[in-house]
Amino acid sequence: GRHDTAAGIARVYRGSFVHSTRDAALEILNDFVLGVDKSGKITFIEEGKNVDRLAQEQGFNTADVENLGPGEFFMPGMVDTHIHASQYTYMGTALDLPLLQWLNTYTFPVESRYRDLKFARDVYTKVVKRTLRNGTTTACYFATIHTDASLLLGQIADDLGQRALVGKVCMDINPMVPQYKELLDESKDETLRWVLQYPRVKPVVTPRFAVSCSSSLLDALGEIARSSGLHIQSHISENKEEVELVKQLFPDCLSYTDVYLKHGLLTDKTVMAHGCHLTDEELKIFHKNGASISHCPSSNISLMSGILNVRNVQKHKVKLGLGTDVAGGYSASILDAVRRAIDTSKVLTIEHPQLRPLTFEEVFWLATLGGSEGMASYNPSEGNLPPNHFRYVLFHSS
Ligand code: GUN
Ligand code: FE
Repeated sequence: GRHDTAAGIARVYRGSFVHSTRDAALEILNDFVLGVDKSGKITFIEEGKNVDRLAQEQGFNTADVENLGPGEFFMPGMVDTHIHASQYTYMGTALDLPLLQWLNTYTFPVESRYRDLKFARDVYTKVVKRTLRNGTTTACYFATIHTDASLLLGQIADDLGQRALVGKVCMDINPMVPQYKELLDESKDETLRWVLQYPRVKPVVTPRFAVSCSSSLLDALGEIARSSGLHIQSHISENKEEVELVKQLFPDCLSYTDVYLKHGLLTDKTVMAHGCHLTDEELKIFHKNGASISHCPSSNISLMSGILNVRNVQKHKVKLGLGTDVAGGYSASILDAVRRAIDTSKVLTIEHPQLRPLTFEEVFWLATLGGSEGMASYNPSEGNLPPNHFRYVLFHSS
């Protein structure tokens, strides 16, 4: 019996709303009423006692208002700022090796299989359904090097109603698993084909990490991101062995961060996963360029990579969201990342009692508004605010 109205209000909800704002990590609005237009955007939120006036003004029928039961509440959809859709098949297993050995032993052989579109369709449908069930309404995905399978992931996310940034992985170096890599020109051309063909959800330029990419490929991807204005995602300073390797591979760069900066890959639309071992100097460069970090605590512990000092990231005013980093992380749930983020911050407090552990309110903020700001193109060092439409993403089950 729901009707569309002239004002375009599609759905109206009433109940308690729990959300984050710029000023409050967690705000509870008891008995509020919220309207959503046909495109899914929130058009009003007001106290419940105003519902009759709102119905008149906005042209909806109070009988169509969807009420919550006692003990229930609405909250914004959660944002997973870093997840490998292609690694879903072995989530929760194969966590006995550190990063570089883990990639060669488990990850690259599995990712090679996504040439097979039937396999890709099966896994990608499962991962999108699973993350939606867990409340992830926006996800920033790594797929694999395969363009057609990556296109398919975007289509599946769009069909199932998830907002997504999807990355076709780019890598032209892979000494240990040589069957899983691209030629330089192939990686460039396929990235362009994929960017141009992308139907609905957004493509994100995705150099896997500095270890897997030649300087020429990084340059080419920086140029594609610049000329197309696209988002960028990669990994940075996850594990100490990786940091050392990057120093050797890029002797002309001052730091790991400098590698991405010099190749045009550190912008206000960049999301870098992990960052456990970034120095203060590097965090300053992140801040200056408006790049964000995806905090992936589950993966950081499982792969024995390191522990991100979130307080220090906050001190440097670097944009920060949460990531599950499946399958380095063993859970596809951002709520699980919330728990792990609190746990790991308490581990740091055990070691450094002067560090205040993260509160659940702060981590709720990271899981929602923090993640959406992390994926929005604004630069805190320039005093810009994130665009309004990034601030609320309502979960629609269909
Ligand atoms: N660094 C480069 N590739 C990967 C990956 O697939 N997972 C994680 N956790 N780190 C990476
Ligand atoms: Fe990752």
